[in-house]
Amino acid sequence: MNNEQSQLFPIKTEINELDHLTIAGCDTNELVKEFGTPLYIYDKFTLTQMCKIFTNEFKSRYPNTEIVYASKAFSNLSIFKIIEQEGLGLDVVSGGELALAESINFPNNKIYFHGNNKTKRELKQALIYKVGKIVVDNFYELNLLNNLAKDLNIIQDITLRLSPGIDPHTHTHTTTGTLDSKFGFSLETGDAAKAFKYAKEMSNLQLTGIHFHLGSPIFELDPYALAIDKVLEFISNLGIDSQNLLEFSPGGGFAIGYIEKELPPPISGYADVITKALKEGCKKYGFDQPKLVIEPGRSIIGRSGIALYKTGAVKEIPNVRKYVSVDGGMGDNIRPALYDSKYHAVVANRMSETPKDLITIAGKFCESGDILIKDINMPIINADDTIAIPASGAYNSAMSSNYNMNPRPPILLVDEGKAKLIRRGETYEDLIQYDIL
Ligand SMILES: Cc1ncc(COP(=O)(O)O)c(C=O)c1O
Repeated sequence: MNNEQSQLFPIKTEINELDHLTIAGCDTNELVKEFGTPLYIYDKFTLTQMCKIFTNEFKSRYPNTEIVYASKAFSNLSIFKIIEQEGLGLDVVSGGELALAESINFPNNKIYFHGNNKTKRELKQALIYKVGKIVVDNFYELNLLNNLAKDLNIIQDITLRLSPGIDPHTHTHTTTGTLDSKFGFSLETGDAAKAFKYAKEMSNLQLTGIHFHLGSPIFELDPYALAIDKVLEFISNLGIDSQNLLEFSPGGGFAIGYIEKELPPPISGYADVITKALKEGCKKYGFDQPKLVIEPGRSIIGRSGIALYKTGAVKEIPNVRKYVSVDGGMGDNIRPALYDSKYHAVVANRMSETPKDLITIAGKFCESGDILIKDINMPIINADDTIAIPASGAYNSAMSSNYNMNPRPPILLVDEGKAKLIRRGETYEDLIQYDIL
């Protein structure tokens, strides 16, 4: 594995004497024998390292920073526990994610509740759990939340989600901060200005700052600097003072490497640009330096996860394409079908063989679009080989489905040669139990 490829895999990835892929000292082929495929494996060391890297890179430049894990990337009890132990906060976007956090008594004051259409029930749940901040997305929510807080006799801290009109040049489905977006109060339309006015008038809401999220994954650094300056200038023109800007969040969206030709800037690069832009902007527009809230999801959890599949049918269409099918696909990883996402793959049971066959890795779901990787050079693949796809930790399991009544795969956490089941695989009984005859 060359240096670029190794950056796609968990940090403690090696090849053992059997020519097998190992993660954190665990032979992936042995894990496949024990747990079957598809199988997802998360490396604890990579996850904790990423938490530490984010914390160090931001806090060394801007001590008043809070790193908040965007749990939509992958929600799981064991993962939440690690996030808490690493001192990170939690971004949740649903009552379900919040319920998971509540079930392990995740510190309520470190929870940020996001979403463009939080239901009455979800907002009430958040108020009762006394989450630290509710990030208000729209006027409907502003009124609804104020009324609910009034009923419960609570003063709730909020921040406003702004839509700054900056294009981060990522896939249109994952761009969120432009004018044509369902998220946030637009600077351009006048909604953001109105939102500040109304928020300050709300009897049971305390406006503590602002949030925006540009999109994901963002490989460029400039959009963050441009958006920070634009938002600070905008709120200074509105006459907002530092009292209503105790917190400033430019969201998440930091990229990870999926293929060796597209590697992201280091976290230090994002930290440099963001902290510099915030310090300079505060000076330029006359604000005290607020708390900086950073919300990485993918970049915390993505690299620590790999997906393992077994190969089955091979279909060769002469001069057209060779399809190698695996026993998972869009049910456990919808990203290629949804976003055209690219991935790398290796044969985990024959790691040092030279790639010489151009193939397409297809999933087993009944959709022509269920292609995991289009055109990748691999060693000649036989039935029953083990395929490993790195950078599978974010938005794979999180977006998984039971399409075609396929059970979701089990998930392991590996650490220092040991593997622990952190989510059991589903059974047919699990899938059948919701139906009523
Ligand atoms: C508000 C908000 N914060 C953070 C994130 C996390 O993005 P990423 O996983 O790319 O870091 C998202 C992703 O959709 C988001 O909507």
